[in-house]
Amino acid sequence: MARGPGPEGQDLLRFITCGGVDDGKSTLIGRLLFDSRQIFEDQLAAVDADSKTAGSRDGARDLALLVDGLQAEREQGITIDVAYRFFSTGGRRFIVADTPGHEQYTRNMATGASTADLAVILVDARKGVLTQTRRHSFIAALLGVRRMVLAVNKMDLAGWDETVFKTAAAAYRDFAGGLGVDDVTCIPVSALTGANVFEAGAETPWYRGPTLIDALETADVSTDIARRPFRMPVQWVNRPGPDFRGYSGAIATGVLRPGDAVVACPSGRRTTVARIVTFDGDLPAAVAGQSVTVVLADEIDIARGDILADARNPPDSTDQFAGHLLWMHDEPLLPERQYLLKIGAARATAQVTDLRYKINVNTMEHIASRTLELNEVACCNFALDRPIAFDPYAEARETGGFILIDRFTNATVGAGTIDFGLRRAANLARHEMALDKALRARQKSQRPCVLWFTGLSGSGKSATANLVEGKLAALGRHSYLLDGDNVRHGLNRDLGFKDVDRVENIRRVAEVSRLFVDAGLIVLASFISPFRDERRMARELVEDGEFIEIFVDAPLEVCERRDPKGLYRKARAGEIENFTGIDSDYEPPENAEIVLKTAEHSAEALADRVIAHLKDGGYL
Ligand code: ADX
Repeated sequence: MARGPGPEGQDLLRFITCGGVDDGKSTLIGRLLFDSRQIFEDQLAAVDADSKTAGSRDGARDLALLVDGLQAEREQGITIDVAYRFFSTGGRRFIVADTPGHEQYTRNMATGASTADLAVILVDARKGVLTQTRRHSFIAALLGVRRMVLAVNKMDLAGWDETVFKTAAAAYRDFAGGLGVDDVTCIPVSALTGANVFEAGAETPWYRGPTLIDALETADVSTDIARRPFRMPVQWVNRPGPDFRGYSGAIATGVLRPGDAVVACPSGRRTTVARIVTFDGDLPAAVAGQSVTVVLADEIDIARGDILADARNPPDSTDQFAGHLLWMHDEPLLPERQYLLKIGAARATAQVTDLRYKINVNTMEHIASRTLELNEVACCNFALDRPIAFDPYAEARETGGFILIDRFTNATVGAGTIDFGLRRAANLARHEMALDKALRARQKSQRPCVLWFTGLSGSGKSATANLVEGKLAALGRHSYLLDGDNVRHGLNRDLGFKDVDRVENIRRVAEVSRLFVDAGLIVLASFISPFRDERRMARELVEDGEFIEIFVDAPLEVCERRDPKGLYRKARAGEIENFTGIDSDYEPPENAEIVLKTAEHSAEALADRVIAHLKDGGYL
């Protein structure tokens, strides 16, 4: 989102207020709107009327109702993550992001902070700096906010006591020192009386610093995005007919003029700008914040999600990076799982390859962990399935921040910042690999593929897979069977049956399957593989048509009655935990290529069906 000077050239400050209802946040925002005369007479009349019935101040005007009234509206309607409120004074326009303070709304807070130039951190003078204060400040700092104003509120209830203010201010400065924040201003205020909000409070003669509005009006936000190197994430390739091809997007940073040398990232192809096209005609120059269509001098290959950048000062490109991740979902992070990463208009599949440490937001302590829970922050390494272009977040929030999405539910599960790339993207020679694979497959006169058997324990996966393998051998085909017996005792003997372990089990099996397919083999993988996400991941590791999902479908009661290894009995007796179907989930396939009902047909007949499928599909 555009920051810095507003469209009319008037100075604009975006800030976020952090704090809970109890700290007086609504009253403070109401006070800012009221004292800056942004309130209409009728709104004020309504507040006065409501104050008599619903106010918290014995009928006196309760400014919090200005904001809470709007809040009520927003709760009724569509859920808005963050409420943005506008006001202005002589010198500046302000956009304040108002986000709920409670821990469960951390993601909303993160959204508000990601575009803020400054954060107003609110504390109740009587309580001082709390865990919540530290969490808010840490996340704001993580998301690039470099200026903090600590508003020590409710000074009226703390007897306007200088020591109270100084204690809170000292505790906060101490904490903020470790956050890399450039600038901390502490102000004693009373949102209720208005002291030190717009007017210096007569009650605090010992305080000679700025009022809140002074601090907001004079905060230096001259990170002039127009002077930074040019970046434009390509939103779409505009190709209405054969004689026009333009690349459309919003300029994130910098200025662009016809004739400028540009580079498309991550491909690294260079050319110059021929025209800058808008709805109102061609432009001689365009700056950050403007949406334009760029026509280039040469036809180079650029796709949606690429970044068009200043050729003298391009962004980095990588498929592995180190970054910080804020987890925003009730379901914990599974480091081995593949998530969808969105950065600008680019998309990639991402996996946390190394959860280096979690950060305790109170103490900044580093903690070893295998997973991340809601609202936790960690420093991680990530691997992507393709290179992306980026700038380190500390240098450019516009091109350095990302979100993670669960590929199955589409829920946004995390937000992060890229710290640095771990290796430069080399153009992996996938092409040559494909040729070798074709050669190896030809030598074996077969089309390699993965037969992925999934189903409950005791459903008959391995029995069927064994029969299929025997039939393949009889036909002179080259195959390999992977199952719990040969994998869990060797390669995966460090893994148990918790969700994280199963995800990692399947990830490794899927990678091995891919290598064996590359070797030209027909792979039979027989694993419970209870989660759809991981089965999809296994599918996506190989090429289209190379993955055949076989759902070995038998009702739980049948599997339990068979109980070939006596494990169901043990699970029911509580002797083993996390047993699939008992106290651990199984997500049945929705689009399996083959469904085998082992309770209804013989294993022999079902194995023949698999062979027939392979013949019909041209694999054999
Ligand atoms: S998966 O869930 O990670 O795909 P996998 O197929 O490798 O599981 O291993 C399942 C086999 O391990 C079962 O057939 C059973 O013999 C054995 N096993 C031992 N404990 C469990 C458990 N808690 N849940 C499921 N299977 C278990």
